[in-house]
Amino acid sequence: MTDFCGEKIRLHVFGASHAPAIGFELQGVPAGEAVDPAVLQVFMDRRAPGRNAFSTARKEADVPVFESGITGGKTDGGLIRGVIANRDTRSRDYEDLRYVPRPGHADYPAYIRYGEERDFRGGGVFSARLTAPLCAAGGILLQILARKGVRIEAHLLEAAGIRDRAYDPVAEEPENYADSEPDFPVHSAEAGRKMQEAILQAKEDGDSVGGIVECRITGLPAGLGEPLYGSFEGRIAQAVFGIPAVKGIEFGAGFEAARLRGSENNDPYYIDKNGCVRTKTNHHGGILGGLTSGMPVIFRAAFKPTPSIAAEQDSVDLRTMQDTRLQIRGRHDPCVAVRAVPCVIAAAAVAAADILFVQ
Ligand SMILES: Cc1cc2nc3c(=O)[nH]c(=O)nc-3n(C[C@H](O)[C@H](O)[C@H](O)COP(=O)(O)O)c2cc1C
Repeated sequence: MTDFCGEKIRLHVFGASHAPAIGFELQGVPAGEAVDPAVLQVFMDRRAPGRNAFSTARKEADVPVFESGITGGKTDGGLIRGVIANRDTRSRDYEDLRYVPRPGHADYPAYIRYGEERDFRGGGVFSARLTAPLCAAGGILLQILARKGVRIEAHLLEAAGIRDRAYDPVAEEPENYADSEPDFPVHSAEAGRKMQEAILQAKEDGDSVGGIVECRITGLPAGLGEPLYGSFEGRIAQAVFGIPAVKGIEFGAGFEAARLRGSENNDPYYIDKNGCVRTKTNHHGGILGGLTSGMPVIFRAAFKPTPSIAAEQDSVDLRTMQDTRLQIRGRHDPCVAVRAVPCVIAAAAVAAADILFVQ
């Protein structure tokens, strides 16, 4: 099962890194919703590779072509199918990896699961290239959600252990990125500069670093979602864990809540000046019992360091079953969390649309 299966939304992503194309099929989107391709492209470009020193040098235009579901610029209620061409593939870079798995990547379990027939070029189906269709589908949903007053933002909260300014957990106002670096989505220019230095240093060392993406969803009314396995947390987690290299997710105070007393962690209610129920703090991260509380939904996704690093590493040869050394060639992101920011926004849009569209 490789799909996001929600109550209303179903997202299927297909293709592989060096296949002729990748794409998606999105079901459950209401008819009559305008989709602006220019706005979608701006969002897609935030994820596209080859735009700066923090991303892989692979260059792809990432322009989705819609084969169904959008008629005359509007959704028609049918399955939306979008296809994105792969152009800048260099499969020879991967020949060494046919039988020698990269530590930290999916190569070894994929070899066991699919055998010699698997498409290992560029990571095959495990490549982050498949986050381009996620961003296309999520970008469509973002436009619809925005018209319903739902806004989804994210930033690079941490890279190489250096921290950006976090979202104010109770504020609703949009927070802009430090405008000096539009390709590097942080709030504090100072933190961004330090992160960039650390990422480039790791790259120079033939290494990589990890990071944390923080996401905020505002404008969702209280009471959406389902208890138990239909919880909004669960649906966000299902969508976010579809992004490669995610190793953890936390909501609100997250793991820190385990260290608080109830009196500290409980978020006291009050009636605001518009007569709405709100909480003074937001340790619950906008979700209680799996349902939205009406407060901003805040979560953080932890990304591991890029597995493909230039430094030589220990591995094994699966043909000879001998230990060997591996020197990885090819083009890789030194910190995947940078380009993961729009992917997390897209995943959040899929989950948010899923609880909103059942209304
Ligand atoms: C935006 C993005 C870019 C990525 N780029 C690379 C890359 O250049 N090289 C690499 O080895 N892994 C990259 N990854 C991570 C791998 O795809 C991922 O670690 C691998 O598929 C194994 O899956 P897992 O880490 O979820 O277990 C990237 C991930 C994301 C989200």
